[in-house]
Amino acid sequence: MTSVTSLTDQVQQRLANALSATRPEADADPLLRRSDRADFQANGILALAKKAKSNPRELATEVVGNIVTGDVIKDVEVSGPGFLNITIADRAITENLAARHADGERLGVPLKENAGITVVDYAQPNVAKEMHVGHLRSAVIGDALRGMLDFTGEKTIGRHHIGDWGTQFGMLIQYLFEHPGELAPAADVDGEQAMSNLNRVYKASRALFDADEEFKERARKRVVALQSGDKETLELWQQFVDESKVYFYSVFEKLDMEIRDEEIVGESAYNDGMPETARILEETGVAVRSEGALVVFFDEIRGKDDQPVPLIVQKADGGFGYAASDLTAIRNRVQDLHASSLLYVVDVRQSLHFKMVFETARRAGWLSDGVTAHNMGYGTVLGADGKPFKTREGETVRLEDLLDEAVQRAAEVVREKAQDLTEDEIQERAAQVGIGAVKYADLSTSPSRDYKFDLDQMVSLNGDTSVYLQYAYARIQSILRKAGETKPAAHPELELAPAERALGLHLDAFGDTVFEAAAEYAPHKLAAYLYQLASLFTTFYDKCPVIKPEPPKDVAENRLLLCDVTARTLHQGMGLLGIRTPERL
Ligand code: ARG
Repeated sequence: MTSVTSLTDQVQQRLANALSATRPEADADPLLRRSDRADFQANGILALAKKAKSNPRELATEVVGNIVTGDVIKDVEVSGPGFLNITIADRAITENLAARHADGERLGVPLKENAGITVVDYAQPNVAKEMHVGHLRSAVIGDALRGMLDFTGEKTIGRHHIGDWGTQFGMLIQYLFEHPGELAPAADVDGEQAMSNLNRVYKASRALFDADEEFKERARKRVVALQSGDKETLELWQQFVDESKVYFYSVFEKLDMEIRDEEIVGESAYNDGMPETARILEETGVAVRSEGALVVFFDEIRGKDDQPVPLIVQKADGGFGYAASDLTAIRNRVQDLHASSLLYVVDVRQSLHFKMVFETARRAGWLSDGVTAHNMGYGTVLGADGKPFKTREGETVRLEDLLDEAVQRAAEVVREKAQDLTEDEIQERAAQVGIGAVKYADLSTSPSRDYKFDLDQMVSLNGDTSVYLQYAYARIQSILRKAGETKPAAHPELELAPAERALGLHLDAFGDTVFEAAAEYAPHKLAAYLYQLASLFTTFYDKCPVIKPEPPKDVAENRLLLCDVTARTLHQGMGLLGIRTPERL
């Protein structure tokens, strides 16, 4: 692996040198950014001039005299009140592309220097329950964040904090105890059967629970047995977990997402540590007893009538809940997994919960200054009409139905365009296009916003969709095939057309974009970058013939280099977001 210094960094370096040569004492930032007027614009001289009490245009002219030009920087001009307009040499653009091309999959992007460990809490459905669209968002966003973080060199550890513990299991287990054989062994069912069995048991036990006081009492006793670790009770509980996992895995597989068993560490895993969590909090005075319960108060968090809203660590009856498992999980993630960052991809409606949990962990010293904790709270999924997502009958939409429909829609689009594809190939592409469409629609909106689940829009070939990007990729592959014996090769001596320059400079920004998007937990920034990449490619391909009319050989080779680096960047970028790029569409 040979990493490539981006053109941006090279220009930045040259400007910084020129600034310190001009005003050694000032330590000024050139404030460099991409610009429409030239390739880059630097605005930092204005601030420096103010500080040094000099005329900005004169200072700018002085700085320009100190900028090394000729290799990377072709030309610098002073403009306006004292901006610098910078033009990059064509040769530098082509050489940069050639170096990225030579580096294979990483495209010359360096690894982060001080990589940490981020524990990503995502894709956390609940045992014995149907997954909903919220769980879909968590899975898709979490998976993309992991892809981006890993690419920067950060080590990520996944934690699927599934809801597999709590009082609701008393009812379910007691029912199964009284009706053995109602759940088929997990090994014998597929995802759909597993969920339908679970649903049946859930409904039957619920009905009994609501109608029969004595059953209710037995169910309560069952909760106590579960929490005290009774062997027979745990075995029945395990059956629910196993059956649910069959279902979860079938949905994740449909989502084309790899979930590893050892990263499924649900609420129950922290059961043994919860009494100690409570003891430490009580002993250190972080939590106090209030009406029998163990709670933590916060000055600034208040509810109705200005009453403080506490975080409940332990209920008056001695039971532990959601907060206790999350607090115990933090201790594990920081102390045992050595996390430097904790990331929770969880519905924004749980943000108050996390605020209180993080603050409690800080007071207890489990979260120190060296550890960041963040709830990437995503918004709600709405129907195409902008209303809460429900079927026409007003029921919640089953996740598998939704994914199946997306794939079906995609099949129509693929079939219409497909020229030389067999029916099997159409089906395979349809899955890649349909699932990609669902993921991309989610990832291309800022996560904190609500988003509309609109299948028509998602699989549209025009506009900011994954299909558009996938077509751009497939199109380039077809160009590369058609080029036959002519292969991509760099010709740095060639002058570049504006569309080639624009594409080349954008390709250079891939690494910086991934680093920024990963650091800000903002997959939509990578999505926007890729969309712009595909648009710039379209313009380039329009303006600069690659195959027909046939350009001179060196020009063709140089353009194929642009094509190839664009394709690889699309492939890598989409891959980080969890989206496939089929070779043919
Ligand atoms: N299972 C929870 C739900 O469905 C989400 C869990 C989020 N993660 C956590 N560490 N609390 O709402």
